[in-house]
Amino acid sequence: MQDSLGRQITYLRVSVTDRCDLKCSYCNVPGRHLLDRREILALEEIERICSVFADLGIEKIRITGGEPLVRRGVVDLIRHLTALPQLQEVTLTTNGTMLDRLAPDLAKAGIKRINVSLDSLDSSRIQSITGRNVLDNVLGGISAARDAGIKVKINMVVLADTTDGEIDAMIRWCGMSGLDLTLIEVMPMGPAKPVSPATHKTRRGYLEQRWSLNPLCENTGGPAKYVRVAETGGKLGFITPMSACFCEGCNRVRLTSNGLLKLCLDRGESIDLRSILRTGGSDEEVAQAIMTAIQGKPPGHDFLAALNQAGSVRSMSAIGG
Ligand code: 5AD
Repeated sequence: MQDSLGRQITYLRVSVTDRCDLKCSYCNVPGRHLLDRREILALEEIERICSVFADLGIEKIRITGGEPLVRRGVVDLIRHLTALPQLQEVTLTTNGTMLDRLAPDLAKAGIKRINVSLDSLDSSRIQSITGRNVLDNVLGGISAARDAGIKVKINMVVLADTTDGEIDAMIRWCGMSGLDLTLIEVMPMGPAKPVSPATHKTRRGYLEQRWSLNPLCENTGGPAKYVRVAETGGKLGFITPMSACFCEGCNRVRLTSNGLLKLCLDRGESIDLRSILRTGGSDEEVAQAIMTAIQGKPPGHDFLAALNQAGSVRSMSAIGG
């Protein structure tokens, strides 16, 4: 599938729920309207849409939320998706709170790699960001995933009040533990406190002074640019939606938990695939709607405009990380 700007769309992110067991300050909108059970796609509906996408050339699917592991039956869904022969990979992004219990089942269902969101290694800071004292629980979940043979990458969102010391501690710990780390510039979505591109650049400058960062050419197809940290041997990625936009290489679309196809995290129309399914539409009709929609994929996000009006864009938990 190619969009009108020649971008190959090979990656689908699927939000399986709008619920989350954490209330991260930069993501959770207090009083947010939660979807009614009937509005949320059934697992069979998700599977059907994914299989149409796979026929259209999607190679990789990432399961997200909300927190995907709070959705009952998600492991069965994953087992069915990993069985789709057209897909190269099915991955998962999780906050890690339920991993200690679910890691063996996820591995059995065919998950080989996951991203765990972890914004600090300081337990009181995690408590203040997430509203729960979950650091030990998440660290236990990471160990359980590794014990089950799943490769874990840590996603750390760099927030307005994240300190350089917190990032240093995370780089050191990930290096020591053999975990890849990706630093994500916070985007002005939902309740997230905006951070300017200049501030993100200043912090990058600090990290370049503090550590020997050797650029790696490797490209995993995603937006991250990787370096090797000489001091730890660890791999470190930077996702820079604010300081260095990467939309020209965007290869992804998103399915929300209520069946909307979103073509950009920030902008543009969404297309209601659920209503096609629920009015008896055929797979061909779903495929046609997807292909038409992809032609309207916006050229890029407009988070810089959103910087001055944070709160105007829906949060990640509503769209799907
Ligand atoms: N900016 C950047 N990253 C965000 N995430 C959630 N909200 C934001 C935001 N406003 C992250 C989560 C998770 C990933 C899916 O997206 O922490 O790691």
